[in-house]
Amino acid sequence: LLVDKGNHRHFMAKEIHEQPEVISHTLANYIDMGEATVSVPDFGVDASTLSRATISACGTAYYAGLVGKYWIERYARLPVEIDVASEMRYREPPMTAGGLALFVSQSGETADTLAVLRHARAEGQRVASVVNVRTSTIARESDVALPTLAGPEIGVASTKAFTCQLSVLACLAIGLGRARGVIDREQERALVQSLVEVPRHISNILRNESQYEAIASLLSKARDVLYLGRGTSYPLALEGALKLKEISYIHAEGYAAGELKHGPIALIDENVPVIVVAPKDALFEKTVSNMQEVASRGGQIILISDADPEEVGCRVAAHIAMPKATEFASPLLYAVPVQLLAYYTAVAMGTDVDQPRNLAKSVTVE
Ligand code: G6P
Repeated sequence: LLVDKGNHRHFMAKEIHEQPEVISHTLANYIDMGEATVSVPDFGVDASTLSRATISACGTAYYAGLVGKYWIERYARLPVEIDVASEMRYREPPMTAGGLALFVSQSGETADTLAVLRHARAEGQRVASVVNVRTSTIARESDVALPTLAGPEIGVASTKAFTCQLSVLACLAIGLGRARGVIDREQERALVQSLVEVPRHISNILRNESQYEAIASLLSKARDVLYLGRGTSYPLALEGALKLKEISYIHAEGYAAGELKHGPIALIDENVPVIVVAPKDALFEKTVSNMQEVASRGGQIILISDADPEEVGCRVAAHIAMPKATEFASPLLYAVPVQLLAYYTAVAMGTDVDQPRNLAKSVTVE
């Protein structure tokens, strides 16, 4: 299989730019565009009788799963347990009858994720997986494989696979919500509509790339960077921090914004850039007050938001303006600026963006 970089300097840049297209393909696999409805395969159980879902994955795929948890709990009112596969496999948690076990994996070969899948099967769960490689072991050992149509991903730091995983999980949440009678036909249409608009929004985000170099130059001088978010923006903060440390080797941590005062606020001074993922959703005001706590301690805030920076009532070092989107669709959009921040910072640092030291694309051994 021959994949080239096209006009891009790195595979990662190419893969970031492919997102509008591959998300469209992935959504088209689960959405009836004419009817604005989703169809997810049935898991061989009546969704209304499901007792719970258990999600497990590693790395970036785990963060996609974490967004999935928020969505499935909210839109399908199904309790979701989630853990990284390396912990869950040795915890061997009991799984109650009538449960759905859901695995997320780009490669479909991650050893820890596969081990949890086999545990879940032994515990009598229905097994579904969100996978990018259809012929993979995880896909083959699942009752139902839900493919992402991201195409081959070469950059070690996952980008397009992540947003395609989010696309599938979003459709799954809608499908489960409908099947469980939590959302009605009209709500389904509105949610589907907001997903259908995602590729266009991402294309617009990618048209404003010039601003990232200046912010990356600020980040490249930092020793530590903090990422904050609430709700579905919390996994995005975790993913942003992971991306930055993977490819720029700058220490970064993602934190739930509300946990700031329970520790990381002690680190804040004028040398610590704080990236705040804050769409103008129901939790926006809460995040704003955390931002003010950072600002009053001299922290350099980089705000990623569709809100007007005037609304935050404190000085921000940079504002990445985001398009208005629904609360539901926002994780798909906000994934892109966190990818670009990591990418441009790595380029500024001169690291090997596509092949970062010590990391492997697929971890098939423990
Ligand atoms: C490795 C890769 C990550 C990936 C993780 C899980 O650490 O470098 O990009 O998120 O494995 O891989 P999977 O193939 O299961 O999604």
